[in-house]
Formats: sequence, C-alpha cells, structure tokens
Amino acid sequence: MNILYEGKAKRLYATEHDDELRMSFKDDATAFNGVKHAQLAGKGHLNKEITLLLYRELADAGIETHFLRELNDTDLLVRKVTIIPLEVVVRKVVAGSLAKRTGLAQGQTLDEPLVEYYLKDDALGDPMLAPAHIRALNLAQPDEVTAVTQQALVIFTHLETFFAQAGLRLVDLKLEFGRADGKILLADEISPDTCRLWDTETGEIFDKDRFRQDLGEVIEHYQQILERISPHAKRV
Ligand code: TMP
Ligand code: ASP
Repeated sequence: MNILYEGKAKRLYATEHDDELRMSFKDDATAFNGVKHAQLAGKGHLNKEITLLLYRELADAGIETHFLRELNDTDLLVRKVTIIPLEVVVRKVVAGSLAKRTGLAQGQTLDEPLVEYYLKDDALGDPMLAPAHIRALNLAQPDEVTAVTQQALVIFTHLETFFAQAGLRLVDLKLEFGRADGKILLADEISPDTCRLWDTETGEIFDKDRFRQDLGEVIEHYQQILERISPHAKRV
C-alpha cells in the first residue's frame, strides 16, 4: 500500500478513503533526534495497544481526536489531518530538558501544568518556540495556539488521573495536533515513547528514558504499563 509518510517510529499509509489513513507502529526506537537507534521487537504492537487504550479513554471523556478504529496488531485507522508542525509538551513534574534548561530539581512537582511548544523539525533539533515565534513563522494562528493549549491541558489532566489509578505518575507528555474540517484534533500517538511515566511509590522509570539512558528492559516496562492500565480501561 501507498506510504504517505515515514517517521522514526511510525508509517502512515493511504487507504481507499481519501480522508482516512492507516497509522502503523514500527519496532524502531530512536532518541536524540534519531542519533541513537535500535529495533525493539514488540514495541510497535505495545505502543499501538497503549495508544488505542488511551484514545478510547479520551473518546469516552468526550475529547475528539483523529482516532477512528483499531485495524490489527500494529495499525490504527485515523482521520487524515494536516499536522500543525508543533510538538506541544505538557509538564507537571520537572524532568528531561526542563531540568537541564532551568536547573530546577528533577522530580519537583510544578505548581501548575506547564505548556511548551517545540518546532517539529529533526534537522533543527526540535527547538523550543515562544508563541511569538509561532506567529512569526506562521505555523498557527493565535486562536489555534489557544485551542491547542486548552486541549493539551485537558488531555494531560485526564490522562494524569487515569494513570494515577494504575500507580503511574504522568510526569510530562508530548502531543501533536492537526487541522480537519475547521477543527483542531489531537493526532499522532500517546505512548511511553512520547511521555514520561514513573511509578507513583518508587519513582521507577517505565518510559522511553529506559532506552535513552540505557536502563535496560525497555519492552518489559512498556508491557507492564499496558498490564497496569488495562484493568482501568472503561472499554476492552
Ligand atoms: P524533554 O524533557 O526531552 O523535552 O521531553 C519532554 C517530553 O516530550 C517527554 O515526555 C518526551 C517527549 N518527547 C517526544 O515525544 N519527542 C521528542 O522528540 C522529545 C525531545 C521529547
Ligand atoms: N523523538 C526523538 C528521537 O526519536 C527524541 C527523543 O525522543 O528523545 O530521536
């Protein structure tokens, strides 16, 4: 079938319907903008399962996304959207680049969720943008930035509560949005590749930092995330 886009961890294929795409999850793991690369058998399947479960939770909470339905072990059917080239990061706990950039202590809880915007451009290293840059580069209209920010906060808060039931602390989360029929919809995946999840009690890392930091047992931890959240899913 016709590949429309190949990313580091997913491929998008055309379908028989112009407004629908097949999003296929690969076993590839990358970090530091593709500098570090490995094949992790089963990652595509696990990230597809986790994304599917989370998209269903959001749908049940009345949050509209690009998700349409499950296709097979590694693929989801999604609405075709025009991706806004921003990585929208919501943070509740200090980690990763926020700790490096600000000197705030890793693990410190922020008083309120922080929303940041990065340019989706690997060649430039996904630089952080202020809203003024988003306007200057004409990436999105101010009302779109407002909509994306509001949706990102609602989605984060909802998922934070959901993961808490499974004994997991949602530290931060990267989201991407797209335009379709005049609406802004959540797109892309929601998986341990795109968020940070720590055990609520012990602080054990369950997300892609296991790969980034060579902590080992990456797939085992992704599998445990799925096992921990599955009993809390409203739909199976
Ligand atoms: P950061 O602390 O490295 O900026 O990452 C913040 C969050 O965004 C974290 O959950 C990992 C996620 N993320 C991506 O999904 N893609 C990326 O390219 C980067 C750098 C981070
Ligand atoms: N997503 C980026 C990469 O695959 C960076 C990261 O997640 O650390 O290289």
